[in-house]
Amino acid sequence: MAEQKATNITWHEGTVTREERTSNMGQKGCTLWLTGLSGSGKSTVAVALEQVLLQRGKHAYCLDGDNIRFGLNKNLGFSAEDRAENIRRIGEVAKLFADSGMITVASFISPYTVDRDAARKVHEDAGLPFVEVFVNTPLEVSEERDPKGLYKKARAGEIKGFTGIDDPYEAPEKPELLLPTHELSVAEAVQVVLDYLESNNLI
Ligand code: ADX
Repeated sequence: MAEQKATNITWHEGTVTREERTSNMGQKGCTLWLTGLSGSGKSTVAVALEQVLLQRGKHAYCLDGDNIRFGLNKNLGFSAEDRAENIRRIGEVAKLFADSGMITVASFISPYTVDRDAARKVHEDAGLPFVEVFVNTPLEVSEERDPKGLYKKARAGEIKGFTGIDDPYEAPEKPELLLPTHELSVAEAVQVVLDYLESNNLI
């Protein structure tokens, strides 16, 4: 957990209530946290879901592991420590997006349970729904897809510490949803998430 460095800071409360924001946005904010191996289909499902939600008149936004590493998290690599900081920052950013009323779709490998649980906790502490979605495509299938050629490089020893090859992935024990993208089409995977959002009164 990151230490609090700054001193002499005071929380300044806003006057807009969650109810006002919800009513203004016409929806509740939440975070859908997609976790799984590289190549498991997280980003593919995330962007398709974002598109469908927008078509339905909802406000949704994707936070994507690779993309965030071009900007906010460009100073982080793939050590366990850097991955923890990556997920800590995105957990906080996703919470802010969700607090603003956005349906936030975060897709990060997020291989460590403790880091995902911390992201969940910042949401729960703020009274915001956090939906952990385990994109549980097996390693064999993710590696076979190898959309960026990274498994090939990792197997050849050209990338060290690649998740699933020589770096760990801790599968979620109690995710709210499973998305086995080796058994579902993209449209079916999106529908699974939409059904969950509907049955939990989130859309
Ligand atoms: S996380 O582990 O910190 O959550 P994140 O989702 O941000 O990872 O980034 C993963 C993406 O970075 C992968 O999809 C892949 O394109 C790329 N990548 C580069 N090096 C590695 C590595 N050593 N392990 C996993 N992914 C890597």
